[in-house]
Amino acid sequence: MKIVVLMGSPNKKGSTSILVDNFLKGASDAGHSCEVIDITRMNVHPCTGCVACGYEGPCVQKDDNEIIKSKLMKCDMIVFATPLYYYGMSAQLKTVVDRFCAYNSSLNSRHLKSALLAVAWNSDDWTFDALEAHYKTLVRYINFEDMGMILGYGCGTPSMTSRSKYPDEAYKLGKSL
Ligand SMILES: Cc1cc2nc3c(=O)[nH]c(=O)nc-3n(C[C@H](O)[C@H](O)[C@H](O)COP(=O)(O)O)c2cc1C
Repeated sequence: MKIVVLMGSPNKKGSTSILVDNFLKGASDAGHSCEVIDITRMNVHPCTGCVACGYEGPCVQKDDNEIIKSKLMKCDMIVFATPLYYYGMSAQLKTVVDRFCAYNSSLNSRHLKSALLAVAWNSDDWTFDALEAHYKTLVRYINFEDMGMILGYGCGTPSMTSRSKYPDEAYKLGKSL
């Protein structure tokens, strides 16, 4: 299976990347080919809502989103990787998700597998309620098949994350695919 990770953290050596690296190790041990797209260093503009695409057609904005689209249209699984920012996904990741608008039907008809890797400082049981609800709603709307979520409670710094159970859980999720 070809797996694309949409890396939504700007920190190359941060907590999100610890989960991503472990997930990748597991997935490659299971024989999958993986690619990480560092969307935080790409030139992707927010959807302007012009709907010139008619929800399925070329976007009038010519930017790096075309690269992301072409990779997502060829993969079997998307992994959304993000730090928790004000109880949602990072703006960088949300920007890419909003641009799904111009290939909404194509994405929907591909019935891709998906997963969520997320980290947060907080460890209250409600920490991920909003992000989890959002992700599950996207899965339902875009017709993904959810393969799992790793929600890293109390993963506020790379050392907190390394000491937690979540890197291992991320590895196991990748390996289980
Ligand atoms: C802009 C911003 C918003 C954040 N919002 C939250 C939040 O709502 N809840 C939370 O628990 N942690 C929040 N955090 C903490 C990060 O989610 C946490 O430190 C995470 O480990 C960062 O991941 P990274 O190392 O990949 O950047 C926020 C951090 C930043 C920079």
